[in-house]
Amino acid sequence: MPGAAPILIIKSRAAGNPDRAVDNRRLVLKEFGRIYVREEKRLESKVEEKEFWEKVRAEFLLDPGQVFFNTGTLGAMPRRVFDRVVSHLRLTAERIAEWDYYGPDWISGYQPWSEIREKIARLLNCELKEIALTENATAGMNYLSNGLDLKPGDEILGTDQEHPGGESGWKLKAARCGVIYRQLPLGKPINSPKEVIETFLRAMGPRTRVLAVPHMITGSGAILPVKELCAECRQRGIITVIDGAQTVGQIKVDLQDLGCDAYYGSFHKWLCAPAGNGFLYLRQDRAPEVWTTLASTQWDNREDHGFRLSQRGTGNLSLLFGLDEALDFHFELGPERVYSRIKDLGDYLRTRLREISRIKILTPLHPEMAAGITVYSLEGLPANYIQDELWKRGRLRPRALGDGSGVRQSTHIYNSLAEIDRTVDILKDLAGK
Ligand SMILES: Cc1ncc(COP(=O)(O)O)c(C=O)c1O
Repeated sequence: MPGAAPILIIKSRAAGNPDRAVDNRRLVLKEFGRIYVREEKRLESKVEEKEFWEKVRAEFLLDPGQVFFNTGTLGAMPRRVFDRVVSHLRLTAERIAEWDYYGPDWISGYQPWSEIREKIARLLNCELKEIALTENATAGMNYLSNGLDLKPGDEILGTDQEHPGGESGWKLKAARCGVIYRQLPLGKPINSPKEVIETFLRAMGPRTRVLAVPHMITGSGAILPVKELCAECRQRGIITVIDGAQTVGQIKVDLQDLGCDAYYGSFHKWLCAPAGNGFLYLRQDRAPEVWTTLASTQWDNREDHGFRLSQRGTGNLSLLFGLDEALDFHFELGPERVYSRIKDLGDYLRTRLREISRIKILTPLHPEMAAGITVYSLEGLPANYIQDELWKRGRLRPRALGDGSGVRQSTHIYNSLAEIDRTVDILKDLAGK
C-alpha cells in the first residue's frame, strides 16, 4: 500500500444550483461538475482511487452495514491499531511478571517514549522535545491555562465558537486569577479569513497577553487563519495557543509554518488512535514559561520540556502503542493523500447539499476554510430529528449538535461518495423535494 500511485477518478452528480453561487462556490462546482482525473507519475501501480479507498475501508473494523460520519467526536480504529492495543493488553495481563525494570516500562507515564514523540514531531514538523504526551486536547488546554503566569487584568482573546475543551480552562483562570477572557463573535458561517483577522486585530490591545483560538471550529468545521493571526500576535508579544483537536489527521498541521507558541490536540479523532491519546506542543523558547500541572519525577526537567509536561503517573501503555500504530498507518497511507481525500469528500458533500434549497450550510464556502467537517441545518426540522432519520432510514451516523447548530457530518477516509449520495437522497426526501 505505501507508495501506491493511483489515478483518482471522481464522477460528479448534479452540480448544484449555480444561480446561488458566489465566486468561491463556483470554484468547487467547477471541480465537481465534471469528471476529473488526477494522474500520478508511477503508472506501473495504477490503481483506481475508488478501489484504493475501498481497500482502506476494509482495514477498519466498522460494521459494513453501518456508515460512520462522526469522526469529529471519535475516529474509528483500523484493525491493526485495535490488534496492537489488544495484544499488548493481553501480554500485560498474562506476563506482567516478566517486567524486570531493566528494559522499557510496561506502563506509560514515567518514560519519555521518544520514538513515539519523534513520530509526532515528524507529523507536525517540530522538535521531539517540544511534544508532551497528554490524554487529550482538554488536558493540553488545561496545562496552558493553568501553567501560564498571568496577573489580574491580563486579557485572553478567544472566539464565541469554542468547544468546552478549548475554553473552560480560560474561564477557570478568569474566575480564579482575575484575568479577562473575551470571546469575540465570529460569523456563522464565516465568509473569509480576512473577516476573522480583522475581528482580532480590532480587539488586540495593550492588556492582551494570550490569543487562544481553535485551528478548526468544532461546530462548523471552519479553518481559521491561524498563521496570519500568529504573525500579528508575535509582533505584539502576545502568546498564541491553538486548539488543534479537530485538525491532526484531517488537514496538514505544520507547526513551523504556523508559527504558534503552543498547540494541542487529540489523536483519537482524525488520526484514528484509541481514545485517550493527545499532545501538547510548546515552542522551545516558550516552554520555560509554562509550569506543569501534574508533577512527578521529571517535573523540573529543563532539558526536555515535553517530557516534563508528560508526567502523568501510571498510564495505559497499550493505548500509547495504539497511537504508535495509528501514526504508522497514517504515514503509510501518505498524509497528503489522506488530507486530499478528506477534502474531496467534504467538498463533494457540500456541493451536493446545495441541491437542496431548504439546507443551510454553516461551514464556510471559502475553499481554504473547510475540509472534512460539514455542518448544516434543514429549515423547519430539528437537528436531532435529522440525525435519527438518517440512522433509521439509512444506518448513517452523523451527529446532531443541537437545534440551533445543525447536524455535523464528518467525512473521513473510511467514507465514500456513495455514502454521501445516500445521505443527500434521504435529506432530499426529508426536505420534501
Ligand atoms: C475544537 C475542540 N477542542 C477541544 C475538544 C476536546 O477534545 P477532547 O475531548 O479529545 O479533549 C474538541 C472535541 O471535540 C474540539 O472539537
